[in-house]
Amino acid sequence: MTAQRKAFRASILHSIADPKDVSLEDSYQYYEDGLLVIENGLVQDIGAAKEVFARQPKGLPVTVYKDKLITAGFIDTHIHYPQTGMIASYGEQLLDWLENYTFPEELRFKNPTYALQVAKLFLDELASNGTTTALVFGTVHKESVDVFFSEAEKRNLRMIAGKVLMDRNAPDYLTDTPQSGYSASKELIERWHGKDRLLYAVTPRFAPTSTPEQLAMVGKLLEEYPDVYLHTHLSENKKEIEWVLDLFPERASYLDVYDHYGLLHKRSVFAHGIHLSDCECQRLSDTNSSIAFCPTSNLFLGSGLFNLPRLESFGVKVGMGTDVGAGTSFSILQTMSEAYKVQQLQQLKLHPLKSLYLATLGGAKALDLDDKIGNLEVGKEADFVVIDLHATQLMRFRMNQARTLEEKLFVLMSLGDDRTVTQTFIMGEKQYDSHQAHLKAQLVS
Ligand code: GUN
Ligand code: ZN
Repeated sequence: MTAQRKAFRASILHSIADPKDVSLEDSYQYYEDGLLVIENGLVQDIGAAKEVFARQPKGLPVTVYKDKLITAGFIDTHIHYPQTGMIASYGEQLLDWLENYTFPEELRFKNPTYALQVAKLFLDELASNGTTTALVFGTVHKESVDVFFSEAEKRNLRMIAGKVLMDRNAPDYLTDTPQSGYSASKELIERWHGKDRLLYAVTPRFAPTSTPEQLAMVGKLLEEYPDVYLHTHLSENKKEIEWVLDLFPERASYLDVYDHYGLLHKRSVFAHGIHLSDCECQRLSDTNSSIAFCPTSNLFLGSGLFNLPRLESFGVKVGMGTDVGAGTSFSILQTMSEAYKVQQLQQLKLHPLKSLYLATLGGAKALDLDDKIGNLEVGKEADFVVIDLHATQLMRFRMNQARTLEEKLFVLMSLGDDRTVTQTFIMGEKQYDSHQAHLKAQLVS
């Protein structure tokens, strides 16, 4: 038997299809007493423990978790690491929030020592919340992306990130030029894209902060490197949309600005997309682009209510994003809870199995990475979380009254957060353990 092979025994639940394409029962696999076998960082086998043991060699080392649930690592399709330090800033909507809070904090990332300190804290937060992959904004400073990728590489993470491009409508201290932004992005792509598990996203902040010349350069980069990502914001706030139409009067819509410069492809991820026309939804679908739905951010900044079934009716891929620091939690569980409420406010439903899909496999599809991550099928990268459904007194009490798996999952998503994440594994190696984290915290305090 290969020395690298090892197994984990617990209840196992993972999403295998979008509930909109199959019946709810066919959208997931659940093994009450399951066994997950890992070899060389990849899933080698999965199933009911009895059956998997029967086909595995004797002497397989097994870690047994009693009363725990293993599921695939969560996927955050839109987040800003430099905004960790200004999460929960009071009182503004998007454009004033950017000016008053975001830009001054992002200036601090000129200093790579500060950037590294925040990158470490940020990646610790992702791990303790069970998030194993994220699509991440840096700042305009290319060093902010270098330190982020170096730290993610040390942790063997599958992360996507990029340097912000902004050449107008931002403070001088945070702008680049079409040429300098292009050269710096190119340098970063060459250095990081495809290195270990890391991938690059060309990252114009949003249409108002880039000139037509800069957006043309973004299009040029995507032509030169067709498998890098495009990551930006779209149709988040009504005033923002008016501003875009003023700045680009010759374009038919906000999305048409990006489309004109060739920025829509299967690796394009647009955060928000709350106020889109039917034409824009159709165009996103035709180009296989994705939307990151960020409910805690949309509520916090008062941006609006995202209509998930509407976007899906056009065939647009949707993943979940926390959008920290406009988002108020690193927890994808909390994000799903707010997503449910955002649908409720529109008389729409969000089933817990659909939420599980969006938090894992749907996110992987939105990032065009579903051949590698998103669930625990054989051959996929073994990024997973060990969850305690009884993490708090209230959850224990409530779970005991939940009869079905779906009910338990809904309670987990409504009441759960980082307290439920007991361990997080990256490529089959333990990267976070809540008990060790608590011990460390006690020693430090
Ligand atoms: N639009 C442009 N920049 C940002 C940002 O940093 N956060 C959010 N939520 N929206 C944006
Ligand atoms: Zn954002």
